Amino acid sequence: MILRETIDEVKNRLDIVDVISDFITLKKSGQNYKGLSPFTNEKTPSFFVVPGKGIFKDFSSGKGGDSFTFLMEHEGMSYVEAIRFLAKKYGVEIKETEATEHESAQQSEREGLYILMNYAEEYYHNNLLTHEEGQSIGLSYFRERGFNDKTIEKFELGYALNGWENFSKEALSKGYSQDLLEKTGLVVKKEDGSSYDRFRGRVIFPIHNISGKVIAFGARMLGKEKNQPKYINSPETEIYHKSNVLYGLFQAKNAIRQNDNCYLVEGYTDVISLHQAGVDNVVSSSGTALTDEQIKLIRRFSENVTVLFDGDAAGIKAALRGIDLILKGGLNVRVVLFPDGEDPDSYSRKLGTTDFQNFLKSNRKDFISFKADLFAAEAGGDPIRKAESIREIVTSIAIIPDPVKRSVYIQETSNLLKIGEAVLLTELNKILINERKKSEKERLRNTDEPPPPSDPIADVSEPTKTDASSMVQYQEKETIRLLLNYADEALEDQKVSDFLFHELEDVVFVNPVFSEIFEGLKEGWEKNESRSSHYFIHEGSEAIKSVVTDLVAQRYDLSEHWGDKYHIHIPREGELLNEMAYTNVLRLKLRIIQKMLEENKQKIREAEGMGNESEVDSILQTQIGLDQAKKELSELLGIVIAR
Ligand code: CTP
Ligand code: MN
Repeated sequence: MILRETIDEVKNRLDIVDVISDFITLKKSGQNYKGLSPFTNEKTPSFFVVPGKGIFKDFSSGKGGDSFTFLMEHEGMSYVEAIRFLAKKYGVEIKETEATEHESAQQSEREGLYILMNYAEEYYHNNLLTHEEGQSIGLSYFRERGFNDKTIEKFELGYALNGWENFSKEALSKGYSQDLLEKTGLVVKKEDGSSYDRFRGRVIFPIHNISGKVIAFGARMLGKEKNQPKYINSPETEIYHKSNVLYGLFQAKNAIRQNDNCYLVEGYTDVISLHQAGVDNVVSSSGTALTDEQIKLIRRFSENVTVLFDGDAAGIKAALRGIDLILKGGLNVRVVLFPDGEDPDSYSRKLGTTDFQNFLKSNRKDFISFKADLFAAEAGGDPIRKAESIREIVTSIAIIPDPVKRSVYIQETSNLLKIGEAVLLTELNKILINERKKSEKERLRNTDEPPPPSDPIADVSEPTKTDASSMVQYQEKETIRLLLNYADEALEDQKVSDFLFHELEDVVFVNPVFSEIFEGLKEGWEKNESRSSHYFIHEGSEAIKSVVTDLVAQRYDLSEHWGDKYHIHIPREGELLNEMAYTNVLRLKLRIIQKMLEENKQKIREAEGMGNESEVDSILQTQIGLDQAKKELSELLGIVIAR
């Protein structure tokens, strides 16, 4: 048992901000600190640390507690493991009573696995440095690859002697049980009950968890024997789940936080060579496609990932797949491609530290430029291929969960490829609506499943943003509000729905959520079935539900309140319906035209820049037409407003 005084000493020395900062990026906020919840996939920070009280509170998952609770919840440690972890971190000597037989038997299996893995790591490392075979074969291999002593120490590299039971004999003689040897996967049990060492005659790469414990090994062969895999890795165990681990994260995490960027490479040796070239913020997915869990791990330290891949066809394919996975995880992606035939490992050694670091800086592209260049090279001047490449880019943008980021990337694509934002938005909305329909169908098929998580849309509830696109979206929202609340009410000679759908026949909404609601309402109108708010509240995505409930709830609150309070007659919305429907259509059209005017101005500037005069002329014609329409709409609105 650990003595009370040890626990008290740990409690005295620990600083909760420091403890939690090993796992999450915290920013100071007044007296306290905040960061993104590690327990959910949130986009805005609701994880708070109160250093004065030594506690944390995560408003998005509801979890909270002290440093010990945090380590238990976040790292899956037991209370005892958390004490040991913190004692080590703060240099507190652990005093404990002699363990009784019963207690040692009870010592958790996990702890046993960690201890044996730690022993194995030291054993392989010692072999590499001091055993004759280790030196002549393993060490000379690493030397040939250019790894220096510091690197070998930093990554605790090792060597497994060639033979069937070198390791198991040694470990058994030190008192580790056969059962434990098998549970770590270091020893493989055969059908007949006999067993042998998994790693033989290979160099060893220990794999650590985020807090630095060895949980697995990768072992590379030395020669070129055919019929042998290049790497043999530890199997999944109680303490090693491949999909939850990134090679090198323990060594890289502080650098990732400091640089606010994480380089992602393919293999063990890429990670190690980059460290040696002075690039410490690097991890590897170890040859497989990145998992959601791995992306969440990176997110704890930075929102920016730069993928480094070979310049060959396979590397490009891997980079493309990686980009979409990372975007889906809500992170920002950049890409560096290496010259054909080079990988980060070979190229960093070829260029040396300074040139390599400069290469990374000057060759990194955001994913839009990367894709644009890639497809531009393929497409040449072919306009059909160009359209395809635009769709490719927009497809990646559609994967990004945050709508604000999506719109930023749309803007960037528009600037880069000289295509109007409206065109891109229409394409984006098509993809998003299709996706939603697909996932909705999927969900309806498995009716047990809860609705998909909410997808917040860009908030345009108030037209405080006065850019053309926000103004359009505000008016789109107003259109939907009218339809949801008053679709079947009568205007002078027709229903609100008839009027609005006829007037807005050709209009494509900019905002994807509003667009989907509008199209849904229109579909109902065309089929002559009236779709009320209930339809969307039952059938819609979370984002749709949220917009619809907001819009329905806003109904006449204000005017009734004012009427009661001041005893003046405020016309209820219903009474003003004619005017509201009419002005809404005019305003929406006016704002769409204003947006087109802005885009058109940009086009003129570009055409002028390129010296294309006939193009300038034809755009100017459009401009004149738009100006005329704007004038007419403004006048109509003026008349209505003055009435
Ligand atoms: N890998 C694996 N098993 C294999 C081959 C590869 O687990 N049989 C994983 C390893 O994590 C490896 C990564 O995939 O690091 C990338 O593979 P590769 O590029 O072939 O290995 P490198 O690490 O680059 O090794 P080297 O430079 O020595 O060829
Ligand atoms: Mn390699």
